[in-house]
Amino acid sequence: MNLGKFVINGPARLNGDVYISGAKNAAVAIIPAALLVDGTCRIENVPDISDVKLLLNIIEQLGAQVEFENDNTIIIDASNINSYTASYDMVKNMRASYYLIGSLLGRLGRAEVSSPGGCDFGFRPIDQHIKGFEALGAKVDIEYGVVKARADKLTGNQIYLDVVSVGATINLMLAAVKAEGVTSIENAAKEPHVVDVANFLNAMGANIKGAGTDVIKIKGVEKLRGGASYAIIPDQIEAGTFMIAAAATGGDVTVRNIIPKHMESLSAKLIEMNVGVIEGEDWIRIVNNGQIVKANVKTLPYPGFPTDLHPLIAVLLCKAEGTSTITEGVWDQRFQYVDELKRMGAMIKVDGRIAVIEGVQRLSGAPVKATDLRAGAAMVVAGLAAEGTTEVHNIKYIDRGYEKFEEKLRKLGADIKRV
Ligand code: EPU
Repeated sequence: MNLGKFVINGPARLNGDVYISGAKNAAVAIIPAALLVDGTCRIENVPDISDVKLLLNIIEQLGAQVEFENDNTIIIDASNINSYTASYDMVKNMRASYYLIGSLLGRLGRAEVSSPGGCDFGFRPIDQHIKGFEALGAKVDIEYGVVKARADKLTGNQIYLDVVSVGATINLMLAAVKAEGVTSIENAAKEPHVVDVANFLNAMGANIKGAGTDVIKIKGVEKLRGGASYAIIPDQIEAGTFMIAAAATGGDVTVRNIIPKHMESLSAKLIEMNVGVIEGEDWIRIVNNGQIVKANVKTLPYPGFPTDLHPLIAVLLCKAEGTSTITEGVWDQRFQYVDELKRMGAMIKVDGRIAVIEGVQRLSGAPVKATDLRAGAAMVVAGLAAEGTTEVHNIKYIDRGYEKFEEKLRKLGADIKRV
């Protein structure tokens, strides 16, 4: 299968302003959340990416009506949801299809959702989602790769998550908003998109408190009313990608339309690495301060350093003076980018969950492939920072999560084209 490629001529020195799109990981949860609404809701700042297109297609097959007001504003009418089944064919390319379990369970008391195929970076368990659904009174079985959940009635309960999981936290909010009584999710994930989904549901009439802390309390309501409008938050990882791209190319880039508070772990790390970071109300400017210095990074749930920026910060650490480390604290198997980056001259050794990165004088262009979404973005950034021509293959992965990636980079002066 031809998954497309980017051809990049480096090195680039990125310069100018870039506008960040709506958050992918909020959008892929808020769209299923709209199925809980009896009526219409309007969602703004929806990123124009392939994951969103796939998901909209899936909810249409379940009976929702989707109308585009423009490229980034949609109106979803879920009055006539008539199916609780998302087949393998519908979800096979959609990693976040598990949110359909929580939303269909909450809406229809029943969900049959196929698990998506093999994963970009290893097996993704959903035991915490299932444990929570069961605590709310659902019976959950997995048969032939299909998660089947049903409940005559959902009743609020106290759920303690054994691991901090974004997906389980959001999925349980979806199932619990219309359950009878109070649900409390303890050891909940605190990511900005968890808060965004809670805010969306509250705008539709839900009663959720504590999102953004590690205890979320949900008082069940009978109905989510339609008619409201909601704007998705800016994408923290897209913003981080451009901040790192600016630093890796020694550029001067203002990343606009963001929430700087969401970027704190990255901003602090960049400052530690001698990158210039200037912060405004809804923008951050990255400027070249000279030689980048080594750092140790550990990825953790929010507000820790995001795992989704791991392959990207690795590229920047290749350009640092000295030896750096990245300790992966969320996904065991997030190191597939390493072999690709080595093809460009990087010196990286992986030992268990730790990558040891030796700074190098230069990266050089090479044919490489995107092994997953963020690793793909990292290869593009490496291509921009490298001397010569880099071909990044399998860019379909990148299209899952970055809106107009090459266009935005070209506006900053990059020589990149899609072939
Ligand atoms: N985990 C369990 N059991 C569960 C759920 C998770 O053991 O039931 C473990 C996972 O194995 C992992 C850790 O908990 O080690 C965290 O997983 P989490 O559930 O938080 O991840 P997710 O919800 O599946 C979301 C993002 C990922 C991002 C992670 C971590 C979406 C659609 N995806 O995944 O984003 O890496 O949170 O922040 O929101 C991406 O955007 O490229 C991406 C992969």
